[in-house]
Amino acid sequence: MRDGGTGAGGTSSGVAGVPGPFPGGAELFRLDGRVAHLNHGSFGAVPVPVARAHRRIAAAAAADPDAFFLGVPDLLAGARARVAALLGADPDGLALVTNATEAANLALDALRLAPDDEVLVTDHGYGTVVAAAARRARTVTVRLDPGLADEEAVREAVLAAVTPRTKIALLDLISSPTARIVAGPGLLRALAARGVTTVVDGAHAPGMLADPLAGGPDLWFGNLHKWGYAPPGSAVLAVAPALRDRVPAPVPSWEDHQGFPRSVEYRATADYTGLLAAPEGLELLEELGAGAVRAHNSALAAYGAGLLARLPGVRPLPSDARLAMRALRLPARFARTKPEAEALREEVMARLGCRVLVWPWADGGGIRICGQVYNRAAEYERLAHGLRPLLDGR
Ligand SMILES: Cc1ncc(COP(=O)(O)O)c(C=O)c1O
Repeated sequence: MRDGGTGAGGTSSGVAGVPGPFPGGAELFRLDGRVAHLNHGSFGAVPVPVARAHRRIAAAAAADPDAFFLGVPDLLAGARARVAALLGADPDGLALVTNATEAANLALDALRLAPDDEVLVTDHGYGTVVAAAARRARTVTVRLDPGLADEEAVREAVLAAVTPRTKIALLDLISSPTARIVAGPGLLRALAARGVTTVVDGAHAPGMLADPLAGGPDLWFGNLHKWGYAPPGSAVLAVAPALRDRVPAPVPSWEDHQGFPRSVEYRATADYTGLLAAPEGLELLEELGAGAVRAHNSALAAYGAGLLARLPGVRPLPSDARLAMRALRLPARFARTKPEAEALREEVMARLGCRVLVWPWADGGGIRICGQVYNRAAEYERLAHGLRPLLDGR
């Protein structure tokens, strides 16, 4: 499913093709209004009602620590059940964890890899996640041309790299720099048919996709603190039945004898308050109307991408209307390395007051923008207007 550029959703501003604000969206957050926060995909942001729920849980913990901590395993089980229902996941196969990076390491440990086992990854994969595989086994990197037309072309490129030696495929559901669907259901089923175990990095999927576990991955993880409106440090790891008893506890503790998922979730005396507030985030999304939020976010990101695409040398990458992120290539002399990308990101912030992701690529990196209910069309206009002289070297 590709989108055709601007105005892919509601246009309540009255100006044709310019998406209007999401009613009440900006007021749900306490973001610094001087900054255009166009990078929700990196760290998310916590809506006020979720922050309030988080504080209520922390207050209960402070009021009677004994009662709170003795009850934590059951409280976590309750939160897990709510999250599982909202994600459409099997509650017995889901564990609450801290973040996608932790989940990736646990997932790979569950597979008990030998150093010469072959793990397929792509060059769009997330650094810490790919590194987790490389520490345990031999990675084979599929180079995906960022310009590949659609999900089917991505699928064919990945499948072409599968050999009889391929044991595991560790793939993004939604790639971070390039905002592409990689591990869609078609690819997951094709890999399973070839006997390849699938590990899916769904960091961006909870809240962004209506059916984030489609295709039946063997191991799957996703952050709740990005598009699920949860407090930072909230994520889930979903595991197929045959692998559940192989997932190690990150810190073996008093619940270790209980097995998955309690053994994974409980790590002695720790701050569980964010995880316990996490379901409030996904529930808020439902209250707002998940479909309306997704359409709004996608339309805004598409609008911004349309503006940026008018800048000389900036080329939009193929996009997907289900996603609230868009990526564009910059002229070849920009962001060729990580330090160059970080320097440009900081310059965009310092000069334009816009938070964006700038990603490095050998022959010229790219920029990623996001749409969220707190964003306004004017913020993307400011970015596009200010980026022109910056790219011209002025
Ligand atoms: C695709 C992807 N995977 C993994 C991560 C890591 O997430 P975390 O820092 O929460 O572990 C990110 C973070 O942005 C990501 O985009």
